[in-house]
Amino acid sequence: PAQRDERKARAAALLKQHNAVLVAHYYVDGDLQDLALETGGFVADSLEMARFGRDHESQTLVVAGVRFMGESAKILSPHKRVLMPDLDATCSLDLGCPADDFSRFCDAHPDRKVVVYANTSAAVKARADWMVTSSCALAIVEHLKSQGEKILWAPDRHLGRYIQEQTGADMLMWTGECIVHDEFKGIELELLKKQHPDALVLVHPESPKSVVAQADVVGSTSQLLKAVVEGPEQTFIVATDNGILHRMRQLAPGKTLLEAPTAGNSATCKSCAHCPWMAMNALQGVIDCLEQGVGEITVPEPIRTQAAGCIERMLDFVA
Ligand code: 13P
Ligand code: SF4
Repeated sequence: PAQRDERKARAAALLKQHNAVLVAHYYVDGDLQDLALETGGFVADSLEMARFGRDHESQTLVVAGVRFMGESAKILSPHKRVLMPDLDATCSLDLGCPADDFSRFCDAHPDRKVVVYANTSAAVKARADWMVTSSCALAIVEHLKSQGEKILWAPDRHLGRYIQEQTGADMLMWTGECIVHDEFKGIELELLKKQHPDALVLVHPESPKSVVAQADVVGSTSQLLKAVVEGPEQTFIVATDNGILHRMRQLAPGKTLLEAPTAGNSATCKSCAHCPWMAMNALQGVIDCLEQGVGEITVPEPIRTQAAGCIERMLDFVA
């Protein structure tokens, strides 16, 4: 703990010295979330992270999360310096949707509006008409459907299926998945619900159908956090990365939070309920990127300009 406090103080001093602001996702280490909030930064879901980074006056953003979050920040603010604690922190959805293959998929279906999830590379976004995050995907697809549009969706098949079921939109799907949420199990969740009949079940829509079907609330990380803080219930079953429990406990200290069951446990299954790439973010990484200037995100032109269109369209839609 002494070493941790020392690192935290060092990172805070460097953020100040470099006029930098730390923007963190709820899944990263609790120390990083605390550091962000203690130094005037922000902890949020992917949509809010993008908006905060774009609107903040600081010319240096340190983005603690996974690569697509840093790329989105850079795409929206090309003149800012965007640093990440670990540039190798990626996402299984991004890895499972290579830009060349995706481009061919789009070429084969020119009659469809291309809607991509935030969890993709800048090159994939450069092919898209719209970017969405879990907090606004439903509203945007509903909007496109009302305009008579057919949709090409990528890459998360669980989120895509959930939105398709909710909206009835014509959606042709890529078949990627999040290795973390894909591990939540419907049968085990049913058993846990029986043991806690009063619990409210909170589910991130990257989870399988059998899990989403049992949800009281389906939403982005911020929407699930809000349900815990504002709900009158005392007990919650949480089907998303367990990194979010840190902030849930801080904002709703008296409540009981139960992790939704996965196939294994953390000893046997590395990705069960905790993202291995989010876990690469550490205090030392914040220190290194500011002190040594490593971990800088670059997005080459013309990809940056092409990718900006779909992100800005989303931000204008939700404004
Ligand atoms: P949110 O946009 O809900 O924060 O989700 C990001 C993510 O990577 C979920 O796995
Ligand atoms: Fe990607 Fe899943 Fe990790 Fe989120 S939790 S960054 S979707 S692998």
